[in-house]
Amino acid sequence: MSRRRVGILTSGGDCPGLNAAIRSFVKLALRRGVEVWGFENGWEGVVNSRYLVMKPRDVSGILPLGGTVLGTSRFNPVFDRRAEEKALETLQNVDALVVIGGNGSLHIAHHFQRKWGRVIFIPKTIDNDIWGTESIGFQTAVEVATSLIDRLHTTAESHRRVFFVQLMGRHTGWITLYAGMAAGADVMVIPEYPLSEEEIAEYIMHRKRMGKSFSIVAVAEGVRYSGQKEQNVGIYLQRRISDLLKVETRFVEIGYVLRGGVPSSYDRLMAHQMGYFAFHLFEEGMFGYITAYNGYVEKAMPMESAVGRLKTVSPEEYFAALPYFG
Ligand code: F6P
Repeated sequence: MSRRRVGILTSGGDCPGLNAAIRSFVKLALRRGVEVWGFENGWEGVVNSRYLVMKPRDVSGILPLGGTVLGTSRFNPVFDRRAEEKALETLQNVDALVVIGGNGSLHIAHHFQRKWGRVIFIPKTIDNDIWGTESIGFQTAVEVATSLIDRLHTTAESHRRVFFVQLMGRHTGWITLYAGMAAGADVMVIPEYPLSEEEIAEYIMHRKRMGKSFSIVAVAEGVRYSGQKEQNVGIYLQRRISDLLKVETRFVEIGYVLRGGVPSSYDRLMAHQMGYFAFHLFEEGMFGYITAYNGYVEKAMPMESAVGRLKTVSPEEYFAALPYFG
């Protein structure tokens, strides 16, 4: 019998913990005598048949590294007939494909699962918005965002300023709510429950009446207001609140720094578990599944249940945080 072979790729925005997942899967596969092709730069590597035949040294020492040794891209072959054909040709050379990605990559993975049938999906995104599972990278992003907001407190207080801190989160407010709560920000504005400009101003005024001359407003990048012309919602809010309250304000954007650096131990362990579980699914011939993970519990979740859906902040979580605003 010829040697079994699996492809692996990372696709979409990078995040801390990708290398831990690659290492976990590759190490185990090689130990079990399975060859692994590491496709370069996401789906581009599949379309152009560019890959690295992984050796143990390729995954040695990468556990604590941010980014991805395979490279990544947002390239999508689904709507390009020729690219899709080329990808399907390449896939004839492997017995399965492990895709480590976010919601966009899940769409692509699901498409190829329907066309070809041997895809396994590992969820990652700092945004934490893949339905039904935790995602690699989120926990580290919250840690980093928390420590950065912590650092704003002293300067905000010393100068009696209102800071608008804009955080990543394209469709959901997970990072903003969690880091905001952990760092004791005063108002959190998220796409799921956007506060009006007047409500935000009222929280700041409430603090003033309580003798607090500074405030920190955390806002997710995905929030949009009807009157907003600025690309950055944080800049828009800074302008609006300055106009409304005549207070001194500052704007800070916490963006790509959240995607870099050393993954937390939680993200590393989760990534490790998911890599292990993905190999287990491959061995069992279970394709079309996501290595879903919730509080240290691993479960195979069909791609269909998550594709086209978003995991958003629940009313329970938001309304448990709301009494602490202001
Ligand atoms: O999907 C994660 C994310 O970090 C979003 O929060 C952000 O909007 C986006 O990626 C930016 O991605 P890009 O690398 O394409 O600029």
